[in-house]
Amino acid sequence: MNLPVTGSTAEELLAEVARLKEHDLPVRGGQVTAYVYDTGRPEVHEAATRAYVEMLEVNSLDPTAFPSVVEMERQVVGAVADLLGGGHGIFTSGGTESIMLAVKAARDLAGRERPEMVVPVTAHPAFHKAAHYLGVRVRPAPVDLATYRARAADVEAAITADTVLVVASAPSYPQGVIDPVGEIAAVAAAAGAPCHVDACVGGWLLPWLREAGARVPAFDLSVPGVTSLSCDLHKFGYAPKGASVVLFADPAMRRRAYFASAAWPGYTVINATVQSSRSAGPLAGAWATLRALGRAGYLELGRATLEAAAALREGIARVPGLRVLGEPESSLVSFAAADAGLDVFVLADEARARGWFLQPQLSYAGIPANLHVTVTGVTRAGVDAMLKVIAESAEAARLRGPVTLPEGLVELVAGLDLEALDDPTFAELAASVGVDLRPGRGQPEMAVVNTVLDALPAAQREAVLVRFLSVLYG
Ligand SMILES: Cc1ncc(COP(=O)(O)O)c(C=O)c1O
Repeated sequence: MNLPVTGSTAEELLAEVARLKEHDLPVRGGQVTAYVYDTGRPEVHEAATRAYVEMLEVNSLDPTAFPSVVEMERQVVGAVADLLGGGHGIFTSGGTESIMLAVKAARDLAGRERPEMVVPVTAHPAFHKAAHYLGVRVRPAPVDLATYRARAADVEAAITADTVLVVASAPSYPQGVIDPVGEIAAVAAAAGAPCHVDACVGGWLLPWLREAGARVPAFDLSVPGVTSLSCDLHKFGYAPKGASVVLFADPAMRRRAYFASAAWPGYTVINATVQSSRSAGPLAGAWATLRALGRAGYLELGRATLEAAAALREGIARVPGLRVLGEPESSLVSFAAADAGLDVFVLADEARARGWFLQPQLSYAGIPANLHVTVTGVTRAGVDAMLKVIAESAEAARLRGPVTLPEGLVELVAGLDLEALDDPTFAELAASVGVDLRPGRGQPEMAVVNTVLDALPAAQREAVLVRFLSVLYG
């Protein structure tokens, strides 16, 4: 943007925003099966938006200046603690920040010179990010390849004298299954290590599913050995983005997540989160969503997601050539191809051409490439339409056949010294194999991109992904 000399009116700017959003995926309606959470009740989202805007300019940096922030946070964190076995919490901007704070608290509490944490391979990359930022080494634990759940014995085998944290997910995102939290927390406790439950997805979902009749094992702070837990309100709390809570069983551990600095001549800095200045909008949005829905609203959403997820699992199992992975207890469902003639990445492109986004997941740690669907409140109304699209897209993908890459391409990419390439050269190289990332060239054929990535080892995938982003932002 060239900064204009004179200003514009709000109407002009909003017209421009609408134009910029023209090619975005829709955030409402249920045709985008990841990233967005729709209750199907517009009035709830409207209430959250209004509260968000009302608090937009309030700065959570200084709670003594804005007591509304303290009161709202106490209410929101209190509601999460009430539902999830108590504890002492912090309102954060999302799952990643909640996890970052849990890892920081565990690291600082242990005070090890070479801290490590045990992370099942299906746990969210936020743990790897926290480890990277905080100088903690990750010891991965494999998962059972029939159930996709972590096993306590594998976690136990990965624990060392330097382990400062053990992780379990409820559920893990890729296949929507719940790790055996009780068993994992027990082996952690026996080794004297804290255990964090990543309930970013399940914290504000599983209790309602249980109340609606689902069999949900205990997973929260009431489980012996669980010392902290993350629960995102911007997922199944249906709050606007920027809303999560991290709970600590022990207030002394929560204090380890805080940061204070008096090492400068300016205002005193005391932060509960990674961010310092931050809008109270997300807090107000979450507060308003909880109040607008209430227990009855969440229970009804729980029923709707339970029904929709069951219908989806059964429907997918009936599509020739597709199989659901594992037995998801939550409302996240993933499915893979049952034979080599059907390429799920092609299926995803076919679905996208029909207006539906199904999220591709690359093969990893023995788990095959698959597509992911996050079932939300709105899905029940559209589950038949979604199944029809999946069936049609599967048939079309079989007709098209799997992606075949130019011979030698994977070896070429795997052997690239990316550090030696500048961004324009990388972009040209990508364009020469049909992946044009340059502005205005439209959406690249994602099946090709995913097939290339899928064929690479994780480290090379990461290097290529960083390049994609760098080229995209130009
Ligand atoms: C299980 C789990 N944990 C953590 C996260 C990270 O959450 P966020 O994207 O809010 O940082 C996610 C996001 O999908 C998740 O599924």
